[in-house]
Amino acid sequence: MKYTTMARRLATITIASFITLIGAGVSQAGTIEDGIVERIQAVGTVCIAGEDCAKAVVVVAAGPKSAKDIYQSGCAACHSSGAAGAPKIGNAADWEPRIALGIDSLYATALNGRGGMPARGLCPSCSDDEIKSAVDHMIEGL
Ligand code: HEC
Repeated sequence: MKYTTMARRLATITIASFITLIGAGVSQAGTIEDGIVERIQAVGTVCIAGEDCAKAVVVVAAGPKSAKDIYQSGCAACHSSGAAGAPKIGNAADWEPRIALGIDSLYATALNGRGGMPARGLCPSCSDDEIKSAVDHMIEGL
C-alpha cells in the first residue's frame, strides 16, 4: 500500500470515529438534558387548588393555614406584646389562670371575643378549627 493511500484511509477512519463520538456525545447530552427538565418540572410544577392542574405533577391544596401563620397574621399584634392586657404567647403566668378554666373556655373567647379580644382576632375569615389551632399554638408547652 502506498503511503498516501494508507494516510487517506487512516484519515477516513479517524474522521468516521470522530463523527460517531460526536453523535454519541450529542445524544448523551440530550438524555441528560431531558432528565434535568423532568426533574425541574417535578419539583417546580405546583398547582394551587382551583387552578387548571392538567399539567401538574404535585398538587398543593390551598387548605387550612398553619397555626403559626394564623397566629402571626391574626393574633401576634396583641399576643406577642401583651397589648391591651392580652395574655402573651408562651407566658405561663399570663395563661395558667385562663387554662385552669378549660380549653373550651379559651376557644370560646377566641371565637366570640371578649373585652379587648376581638372575635377571631384579626382573622374574621378563619375557620373555627384554624382559630382553635392558633390558641393551641399560643399555649403550646405550658
Ligand atoms: C386586638 C388585640 C387582639 C388580637 C388581634 C387577638 N387577641 Fe386574643 N386577647 C386579647 C385581649 C386583650 C385578651 C384578654 C381578654 C380578656 O381576658 O378579657 C385576649 C385573650 C385571648 C384568649 C384568652 C381567652 C380566655 O378565655 O381567657 C385567647 C385564647 C385568645 N385571646 C386568642 C386569640 C387568638 C387565637 C387570636 C388570633 C386569631 C387573638 N386572640 C387575637 C387581644 C387580642
